[in-house]
Amino acid sequence: MTQRVVPLSDYRNRSTVRVPDRHIEPRGILNDRLQRSLRDLRISVTDRCNFRCIYCMPRDVFDQDYAFAPQAALLSFEEITRLARLFAAHGVRKIRLTGGEPLLRKNIERLIAMLAAIQLPDGSPLDLTLTTNGSLLERKAAALKDAGLTRVTVSLDALDDAVFRRMNDADFSVAAVLAGLDEASRVGLGPIKVNMVVKRGLNDQEIVPMARHFRGSGHILRFIEYMDVGNSNGWRLDEVVPSSEVVARINALAPIVPIEHNYEGEVAQRWRYADGSGELGMISSVTQAFCGSCTRARLSTEGNLYTCLFATAATDFRAPLRSGASDALLSNLIAAVWSDRSDRYSEVRGAQTEGRAKVEMSYIGG
Ligand code: GTP
Ligand code: 5AD
Ligand code: SF4
Ligand code: SF4
Repeated sequence: MTQRVVPLSDYRNRSTVRVPDRHIEPRGILNDRLQRSLRDLRISVTDRCNFRCIYCMPRDVFDQDYAFAPQAALLSFEEITRLARLFAAHGVRKIRLTGGEPLLRKNIERLIAMLAAIQLPDGSPLDLTLTTNGSLLERKAAALKDAGLTRVTVSLDALDDAVFRRMNDADFSVAAVLAGLDEASRVGLGPIKVNMVVKRGLNDQEIVPMARHFRGSGHILRFIEYMDVGNSNGWRLDEVVPSSEVVARINALAPIVPIEHNYEGEVAQRWRYADGSGELGMISSVTQAFCGSCTRARLSTEGNLYTCLFATAATDFRAPLRSGASDALLSNLIAAVWSDRSDRYSEVRGAQTEGRAKVEMSYIGG
């Protein structure tokens, strides 16, 4: 990995971030420099994936020689849970496990059970979810549910098998993902959200067939604007299909109307079919950036904390974890990093962000 990681010692020396020696009691609300509170923690549990989606892990970059994190570098389940508990004390209400492909991490259900036991300060339940490509879901859904997972989000970019195989570049079939989705729904991990990244000229002809397929299914299909995450997908603006165009194409199938968001800072704009046949979502990070309400922190497989999907630097939590840091110190470090946060990449994307060495999406999850 080429990302620059800021170690704890650096933070102690940087003029803008002070990690006080005295313990700051977490009060369940922590605001950054733009008054955004910390609510959502995304934890990447592996940087590996069995897919090679061309917009995320292009095969020519993520090949035989690619240096994935070695086993010893990964945070253990105990380390992850210890940090998650401290984040929850600072106001996190939702934990999303990501990857790479999170279901590739051995015994992931053991981690889920450990996280599900976390008590939030106000007694409300933790929203514990996971984003998966669905390939292992048919086999694992029941165990995930039993371990305490609340729900799942499944990625699926096309209904046409040839298009889907071209996108995942690893010969996985649509049928395998749909079987996983059905099983997840059967065991009670719904309502399931289905994420479709739309790339012009590749799968935009699948927008309407996907909408038709999921209409009336009870699952929520969400269209994601193709983003310039990482440094390897060769992103071009003319390959982005704006959500406004997706809305127009679906309206031609059946009328849809916008609806209120479920919670402050929700990434997707919600829509519903006027005839009551279900809900859809538009995730428009390119054409309508939502940094103003971004409450998300991201913890990498190796214990680096990122405050933006497009970050170039992170804070290392593994070194303090493995050198005997107290809960008070780790908690202070979380507070110091979040209080210093001013990221708003999608709002300032353009000339001033060009050429930036960004973290890969497969390293910190979607
Ligand atoms: P819910 O908890 O179900 O509301 O999920 P979510 O809206 O947090 O969505 P999910 O984690 O499935 O994210 C869907 C997609 O939105 C991701 O795969 C990314 O493509 C994009 N996305 C999520 N969070 C961010 C973010 O903070 N910034 C940007 N630019 N895109 C994001
Ligand atoms: N643009 C938008 N979303 C992406 N994802 C990965 N790469 C990109 C990208 N370039 C998201 C997809 C997928 C999740 C794991 O990561 O939503 O479902
Ligand atoms: Fe794997 Fe998801 Fe990235 Fe595709 S988008 S390569 S399934 S991590
Ligand atoms: Fe949050 Fe960064 Fe995404 Fe903006 S670009 S919404 S700050 S993660």
